[in-house]
Amino acid sequence: MASDISSLLTEGRPSASAANRARRAAETAAFAEAVLDGLARRPRSIPSRFLYDAAGSVLFEEITKLKEYYPTRTETKMLETFGAEIAEHVGDTETLVEFGSGSSRKTSLLIDALPSLDTYIPIDVSEDVLMDAAKRLSGKHPGLTVRPLVGDFTRRRTLIGAPRGDKLGFFSGSTIGNLTHKEAKTFLENAARLLGQGSAFLIGVDLKKSLDVLIPAYDDEDGVTAAFSLNLLSRINRELDGDFDTARFAHVALYNADKGRIEIYLKSLADQKVHVLGRRFTFSTGERIHTENSHKYTVAEFQELAHSSGWRPVTAWIDEDDLFSLHLLQLS
Ligand SMILES: C[S@@+](CC[C@H](N)C(=O)[O-])C[C@H]1O[C@@H](n2cnc3c(N)ncnc32)[C@H](O)[C@@H]1O
Repeated sequence: MASDISSLLTEGRPSASAANRARRAAETAAFAEAVLDGLARRPRSIPSRFLYDAAGSVLFEEITKLKEYYPTRTETKMLETFGAEIAEHVGDTETLVEFGSGSSRKTSLLIDALPSLDTYIPIDVSEDVLMDAAKRLSGKHPGLTVRPLVGDFTRRRTLIGAPRGDKLGFFSGSTIGNLTHKEAKTFLENAARLLGQGSAFLIGVDLKKSLDVLIPAYDDEDGVTAAFSLNLLSRINRELDGDFDTARFAHVALYNADKGRIEIYLKSLADQKVHVLGRRFTFSTGERIHTENSHKYTVAEFQELAHSSGWRPVTAWIDEDDLFSLHLLQLS
């Protein structure tokens, strides 16, 4: 089959079809609602998916190259090392569905390990990075049909144009850790319905570990992670007529041991007033906006979560430094 994305970009085509304009308007409305509600409530909080506009996705790519950020290089090496074993379990799968695919850089390793793959469906809320990745993968893997879907993976209920048959889901980068346990359970239950009986799911999950390793991964010395966090305020300024002074907020990363998660905040460095879409918000010094969680799991904790969501844990791989896990789940 010829490499093909162009005829199938019904949701992701950069040109402004009416459907795409409507989708983008809906995304801006969702952002506005999340920001206005999130800044009005206590504690203040904005969902992490809004960190990933075009600028945020570029900054995330920079984070993945940092010496402090072990997840990407560890998971990449694990896919190289365990690709053949993964293929032994799911080798005849024809359709790969990736949630939160981003740049899809690691995905090429999985695609190389699974020669029967015919169709790749990456799903991401960040349109530019998704479309660039779709084009790159289409060129790199001739014969693979790439069907990118722009949107929120927690809301997707259908896989437009997906072939029939068993599928392999892929959820890398420990993005599942951004969801609370309850949200992760709901996501896994929905993914089971979306992928269908007989399907499998490969999920990268960050492990619990020493804070000496964990904290710098979310607060690097060059300030790239801080720039990624602060971009949320710049995005509000760009898209929602905001007037945040990003120099008057600071990125904070801390570990909440009770909840087993990194929590990211933007902390006000002064008493100040900020406007968004004509609404005024008052911050006192030290007041914080919660922007992201990154839950950490032991292998047993994640397998228990998967099991309670209707998935059967098949196997879990761990890297030699006990940093990261790759879980294979099955629906049977
Ligand atoms: C931590 S990055 C991981 C990217 C890639 N999977 C990797 O491992 O390098 C999270 C990715 O998920 C996307 N994302 C986050 N929340 C999302 C949501 N609710 N729906 C769709 N995509 C989402 C982001 O745009 C970003 O590309």
